[in-house]
Amino acid sequence: MLAGKRIVLGVSGGIAAYKAIEVCRRLVDAGAHVIPVLTEGARHFVGATTFSALASEPVQTSLWNEVDPIPHTRLGQGADLVLVCPATARLLADLAGGRSHDLLTATLLATRAPVVVCPAMHTEMWEHPAVQDNLALLVRRGVHVVPPEEGRLAGGDVGAGRLAAPETVVAAVEAALAEPDLSGLTVLVTAGGTREPIDPVRFLGNRSSGKQGHALAAEAATRGAKVTLVTTAGLPVPAGVEVVRVDTAAQMEAAVTERAAAADVIVMAAAVADFRPAAPAVEKIKKHHGVPELRLEPTPDILAGLGAAKRPDQTLVGFAAETSDVRASAHEKLARKGADLVVANDVGAPGAGFEHDTNQVVIVRSDGLDEDVPLGGKRAVARAVFDAVLDHRVTSADRRPRDSI
Ligand code: CTP
Repeated sequence: MLAGKRIVLGVSGGIAAYKAIEVCRRLVDAGAHVIPVLTEGARHFVGATTFSALASEPVQTSLWNEVDPIPHTRLGQGADLVLVCPATARLLADLAGGRSHDLLTATLLATRAPVVVCPAMHTEMWEHPAVQDNLALLVRRGVHVVPPEEGRLAGGDVGAGRLAAPETVVAAVEAALAEPDLSGLTVLVTAGGTREPIDPVRFLGNRSSGKQGHALAAEAATRGAKVTLVTTAGLPVPAGVEVVRVDTAAQMEAAVTERAAAADVIVMAAAVADFRPAAPAVEKIKKHHGVPELRLEPTPDILAGLGAAKRPDQTLVGFAAETSDVRASAHEKLARKGADLVVANDVGAPGAGFEHDTNQVVIVRSDGLDEDVPLGGKRAVARAVFDAVLDHRVTSADRRPRDSI
């Protein structure tokens, strides 16, 4: 989504300016073309050389430039997005008031691209009515605001005003650039491996990290869906996503069943245990009682239950972890569980599957339009999954009798 996008990264003069270096690195890693613009204040906190080394172009700092007499219009008109990180109270006031006394403020006036601001300042300043009024005005004008977090501030005090985390800033940039092609859809995603208790301290688990499920939830939210994530993983929750924390297959089934009827799209990315201890011990099992024998019983198959109860206008996506005959096994699973799509990965392939940050999958579909997704980040896989979901919804709506659409 960020690949090839021209992003002007404006850095204004706050202590959090050093964190913009990490934001710059992440944007460049995601394929964006980043042009840093530092205010005079920013240069008191960070060196221009650092940004020049990491960004796609050297830092620009001045309106007065003999090579390019009107740098702000070139920057503003050429940008796909202008990000201000951090945005000081003064920068917000300048933008709200239409002042253009330096390269960054002039660029902000000269652009029609989306603008994302990430305020960072002391709590007293953040809560001041002047700052809040300026922000409210900017929001009304369509500026995207990434609110600061609560935490330790520069003077050692604690409160609201700390710059949002780099991943939150990058997610906001992606959201501002995204086509809201999932807006109006309610999406339910499950993530992580379930843990089935043996006794109060031990469980049967699996190696699923939950990263793919969380990436799916983030992708759907970025593209405008109303997202609920039912997860066993302790990973950060993507912005704008409602989260339901669960542990066991039974808890996951209850959470999913309660929300399934309202969902347009359900993605079962969780690695749900197939078996669980039939009678978990109430007290911790002591080793001096000898080696216990565990009797297992099957868990409910949540995906199959959803498939049996599925409305024609619902899209149901399953996941499959296979070690051989990936495509054929995935098609068999799709038919057996009543899913519309199954995302299958070869967990034995290098770089794919559990605990990795990358994945390589094949998406098999009930309409036969299967697709191989090359090895890529889990977010890229999530993007391919929702592209396939949207495409499948179009082809299946075309085939449904008119009165059922
Ligand atoms: N799943 C589920 N409930 C279960 C087990 C799995 O909803 N009790 C879902 C997973 O979330 C995933 C898909 O089913 O979407 C994965 O299926 P898998 O566990 O591979 O299914 P099985 O049919 O048990 O696989 P196999 O036949 O390969 O053992």
